[in-house]
Amino acid sequence: MSDLDLRARFLDGMSRAAASVHVITTDGPGGRAGLTASAVTSVSVDTPKPSLLVCLNRASRSAAAILENGVFCVNLLGGEQVALAEAFAGRGTGERFDGGTWITGPTGCPVLADALVAWDCKITKSELVGSHHVLIGEAEEVWLNAPRLPLIYANRQWLHPAG
Ligand SMILES: Cc1cc2nc3c(=O)[nH]c(=O)nc-3n(C[C@H](O)[C@H](O)[C@H](O)COP(=O)(O)O)c2cc1C
Repeated sequence: MSDLDLRARFLDGMSRAAASVHVITTDGPGGRAGLTASAVTSVSVDTPKPSLLVCLNRASRSAAAILENGVFCVNLLGGEQVALAEAFAGRGTGERFDGGTWITGPTGCPVLADALVAWDCKITKSELVGSHHVLIGEAEEVWLNAPRLPLIYANRQWLHPAG
């Protein structure tokens, strides 16, 4: 067994799990914002609307805007969209939203026109659990573009099949 402490082993273990990559956006009184996030999962298909869960670091500026706006859109990235993932992870140079074509969803959130899938959601529950806000959002609208391979992050690297 590794002699790293529990926290370090937890983080190292999580880094080995493969995850889809999303850009989560928001707009409203708290301002337009967005970040790259892998902590996204479905919760229920009827609550009465389908719902999903996202976990956002309490230090994230986008998380503060999302909480104030009460809405967020989860944009699932395709395998070729690494540059967007890098930009919204704060690793780019320019303005984050310059990198894509955006339309406005029913909640007012920016929706990435060529996302693989986009779920435009209203927050129905939020709870701070240690370092992260756990948010439940009910989908107001779902966009499906033509199926292609998603962008994957695992072992701290992008796995991005062409197209
Ligand atoms: C592959 C990947 C996945 C990430 N997943 C999350 C996540 O699920 N939740 C989160 O809060 N931050 C996540 N981050 C980190 C944020 O994207 C990053 O801290 C960003 O700069 C936050 O920007 P903000 O402070 O403007 O909101 C992830 C970063 C990468 C590269």
